[in-house]
Amino acid sequence: MAKYNLKINGKTRPVDVDPSTPLLWVLRDYLDMPGTKYGCGVGQCGACTVHLNGVAVRSCQLPASAVTGQEITTIEGLSAKGDHPVQQAWLEHDVAQCGYCQAGQIMSAASLLKMNPNPSDEDIEASMSGNICRCGTYLRIKEAIRTAAKK
Ligand code: FES
Ligand code: FES
Repeated sequence: MAKYNLKINGKTRPVDVDPSTPLLWVLRDYLDMPGTKYGCGVGQCGACTVHLNGVAVRSCQLPASAVTGQEITTIEGLSAKGDHPVQQAWLEHDVAQCGYCQAGQIMSAASLLKMNPNPSDEDIEASMSGNICRCGTYLRIKEAIRTAAKK
């Protein structure tokens, strides 16, 4: 075990974990932040997406020892009241079905729009292609991202 001070959603969160513990499990099991979901555990589904210094990353692939001192943002910290433009657009388009993948989808979309505020359809497809939705909400996701880009 080793002690790390992780910067999560603007707060310093001390944790005492094995250095190889993935950030996903630090969030869920040690910090009681279940918004970030476990899907595949091997970087293939996007359910565990968080932001590292504003960029979408797969938290299941990042050991705690690799993220100290960096700005980590989870779905819980994306906005104060769940009113980030992407979250608003998601509600407007009633995107979620079972909801399991949606935190990861929203974090990927928010990162895309931060880096590319006016993405083309091809940009959206390329950027979101690593986020799997078993319920097939892809069309509504794309529409919501277009709406969020206008906000
Ligand atoms: S759980 Fe991390 S990519 Fe699937
Ligand atoms: S909404 Fe069910 S997996 Fe995406």
